[in-house]
Amino acid sequence: MITFYDYYHNEVKLSFTDHPFSEYPKHVWVISRYNGKWLLTEHKDRGIEFPGGKVEEGETPEQAAIREVMEETGGEVEALSYIGQYHVDGKGGCIIKNIYFATISNLTKQESYFETKGPVCLDSLPKGLERNSQFSFMMKDEVLPHSLDYIKKTQLLD
Ligand code: GTP
Repeated sequence: MITFYDYYHNEVKLSFTDHPFSEYPKHVWVISRYNGKWLLTEHKDRGIEFPGGKVEEGETPEQAAIREVMEETGGEVEALSYIGQYHVDGKGGCIIKNIYFATISNLTKQESYFETKGPVCLDSLPKGLERNSQFSFMMKDEVLPHSLDYIKKTQLLD
């Protein structure tokens, strides 16, 4: 278990074990690859981030992950791997989020990308993300580097 503080100074607990905080998390985050690039979305308020969001009533977290990737990027998930889970102790309450790694087979243009401006494909994630105002706060704590290390270590990346 790794503990640190996020961009807003909320305490975050992160673990790459099997659902350490909840079997039924209400949030998902999907680190996505398409065509040899990272596939992200540009949230209208928060900026660039990997796709994700809330698990809806009657959905599994995996179904939510697949839906959120499609809604926010137009990407079709080909393979989805659970990699870990984190717990944020926020001012308005706690949230628990599953982290997935997804490979995307097709990117199709959507009529609407919901609260986002749609897909952003990047060859690499820029250095100094924490200080880059184009990127969302979600990309600015230790969840991202630890998750990328885990993905490399477990050879999920092509
Ligand atoms: P909606 O407007 O309904 O989407 O709710 P919300 O803005 O309150 O957001 P949500 O319920 O998704 O999250 C509540 C709070 O948890 C946010 O304001 C953040 O402070 C925090 N939070 C949500 N997701 C993350 C995340 O991925 N990382 C970190 N560090 N904090 C998060």
